Amino acid sequence: MTITVPEPALVLLVGPAGAGKSTFAHAHFRRSEVVSSDAMREMLSGDAADQGASAEAFRVLDIIVNGRLRRRLTPVVDATNLRAANRRRYRRLAARYGIPTVVIAFDLQAETYQRRNSGRVDRIVPEPVVADHIDRMRAAVEELRGEGHAAVYLLRDGDSHVDLTRQASDAAGAGS
Ligand code: GTP
Ligand code: MG
Repeated sequence: MTITVPEPALVLLVGPAGAGKSTFAHAHFRRSEVVSSDAMREMLSGDAADQGASAEAFRVLDIIVNGRLRRRLTPVVDATNLRAANRRRYRRLAARYGIPTVVIAFDLQAETYQRRNSGRVDRIVPEPVVADHIDRMRAAVEELRGEGHAAVYLLRDGDSHVDLTRQASDAAGAGS
């Protein structure tokens, strides 16, 4: 599996809790590129799972995303991104800066999400929450291709090796 990410791009990771988004972000992107809703909640409240801190966490996250786009730096949004409205908002924000969005979505078997979630050492998300995310993920997979992203990559269960390459935006044909 080869993923090409223009430089800069707004990268949206999409997937249920436990899908492997943070693990993927850590493996493939620089630390400063990754903007995580969990990290924001933890900074605000001391607890990455504190849903009461979510609204404020996303406001902070959006300020950072906007600030990086303005500087033409890639932000990687490490959140579930399961709502079409949120993805549209990010795409429009990036478009204001002439920056493309790239979606990397975790289109896995239901058992894989549940197995990864239950095997976590950081925090286990309640199974009904993951089940709800899985339902929303099924809908997202249908919608993603029609949302106007520059590229949509679906990671599947068998994709053990991912080769992620960065492409300078002039080489990507975005003008110079
Ligand atoms: P949330 O932050 O709750 O939305 O979850 P997440 O999507 O960030 O998942 P995370 O990266 O924390 O991974 C969840 C669990 O799955 C962890 O225990 C990881 O070690 C494991 N995991 C992540 N990616 C892989 C993978 O490619 N293969 C296997 N076998 N396990 C993985
Ligand atoms: Mg995570």
